[in-house]
Amino acid sequence: MPATVIVGAQWGDEGKGKIVDLLAQHSDAVCRYQGGPNAGHTIVAEGETYKFHHVPSGILWGKICVLGAGCVVDPEVLVGELDGLESRGVSSEPVRISGNAHVVMPWHVALDRASERRLGELQIGTTRRGIGPAYADKAARLGIRVQDLLDPKILRQKIEVALGERNLWLERVYGARPLELETVAGRCEGFAARLRPYVADTSLLVHNALREGQTVLFEGAQGTLLDLDHGTYPFVTSSNPIAGAAATGVGIGPNRIDAVLGVTKAYVTRVGAGPFPTEIEGPDQARMRELGAEYGTTTGRERRCGWLDLVALRYAVRLNGITSLALTKLDVLSAFAELPVCTRYRLPDGSETVDFPARQSDFHHARPVYEALPGWLEPLEGVEEPSGLPRAARAYVELVERELEVEVSLIGTGAGRTEVLSHRAPV
Ligand code: IMP
Repeated sequence: MPATVIVGAQWGDEGKGKIVDLLAQHSDAVCRYQGGPNAGHTIVAEGETYKFHHVPSGILWGKICVLGAGCVVDPEVLVGELDGLESRGVSSEPVRISGNAHVVMPWHVALDRASERRLGELQIGTTRRGIGPAYADKAARLGIRVQDLLDPKILRQKIEVALGERNLWLERVYGARPLELETVAGRCEGFAARLRPYVADTSLLVHNALREGQTVLFEGAQGTLLDLDHGTYPFVTSSNPIAGAAATGVGIGPNRIDAVLGVTKAYVTRVGAGPFPTEIEGPDQARMRELGAEYGTTTGRERRCGWLDLVALRYAVRLNGITSLALTKLDVLSAFAELPVCTRYRLPDGSETVDFPARQSDFHHARPVYEALPGWLEPLEGVEEPSGLPRAARAYVELVERELEVEVSLIGTGAGRTEVLSHRAPV
C-alpha cells in the first residue's frame, strides 16, 4: 500500500517500532506525525539494541525519516539521537524535520514536573518530558517552532515572550525557580546549528513522494487510548495518536491514506495512572511483566499488565479505521495455562456491552466479562509460519479476528527483528 498508517491500538508500547522497522525495509519514507520524546521504541537489529525517542525506526534501513508538524521536538534529545546514530555507523542524513514542529523548551519540562508534583495522588503519571506544557503553549500560540530556532533574533524575542508568561507560573504557582533568558537562548542556538541541515518542507516532501508512487509509512506514537480527544481523558497524552491525525500531523489530505495497520499486544499494558478494566490481580501480573520485559523505554517505569481487552480493541478498530492488525508478543502468553480474553464489559447498571462506554464513569466502573481460552504452554521459538503455531495459539488469533471482524496480518513471536510471522497480507 502506498500510504499506510501504523497506529497503536491500546495504551502505547504495543511494539509499533518493530512493525515499522519490518515494513520500512520495503518503504521509501517513514513519518512521525505526533508526540515527542515521551515515545520510545526499542529495535533489536543484528544483535544490536537501538532505543529511539524521536527518530522513526526506518532510519536503520536508511529510509527518509520525517518528523512532521504535529510533533514536538526536544532538541537535546534529538541531537543526542542523531549523534548516537552516527557514532554507531548509521547515517542520520535521511532525517527531515518540519519547521512547523514545536520545540519542547526547558520550561515545559519544569512545568510538567511541577504540575505532576502538585497533583500528588491525582497525578496523570506523565513521562515528565514536557509534552503537555509544549502542546499547551502551541494551542495558546506561545509556542516556539523548529523554524524559529534558525533565526537567532526571532528566537530570542519568542523566548522572552514565552518566559515572561511561563516564569510567572513557575515562580508564583509552583514556587519553582524561574529560567534565565540568556541561558535558554544560548542553549537553543547551539542545538540550532546542529539541526539546521535536517529542517525541510516535510509536507511537500511527503506529497511529492506519494505523487511519485512511493511507499510511505506514518508511524503513530503512544496509542489510541492515550488520544487527547478519544482516549481515557484525563489520563491521556496531549496529542492525537489516532490514524486521522496522520493527515494533519504531516500535512497531507486524509484521502491520501490507503491503509491503517493497528498494532496490539496479545495482552494489554499501561503505564501511568488511569482505569484499566482487565488489569491482572495477583501474581500473574508480575509474571507477565517479567516475561514481556514490561518496563518503559522512556522512563523505566513498571508497566501495568492485563489480559487482552477486545472491547477496547474494537473501539480502536472503529476510531482508526483499522484495516488489519499486527498482534505482537504472542510468545509471552506461552507461560499461562488459561488465557482470559475480555469480550464484553459489565456496566454498573448490570447491562453488558461490546462497545467502549462513551461515559467516563461507566468506563471507570466497567467490569470485564471474560471468555477463558486454553493456553498452549509451549515456546513459539523457531515457529516460521502461522500454520506452525500450536493449535491453541491459532485459536487465540482466530478469536481476535472473529470478534473484531478484522484480519490479523502479522504475529509477533519474539523480540528479534525476524520473529514476526506473516499471517496474511496487510490490507
Ligand atoms: P505524557 O505524554 O508524558 O504527557 O504522559 C501522558 C500519559 O501518556 C501518561 O500516562 C504516560 O505514561 C502515557 N504515555 C506517554 N507516552 C507514552 C508511550 O510512548 N507509551 C506508553 N505510554 C505513554
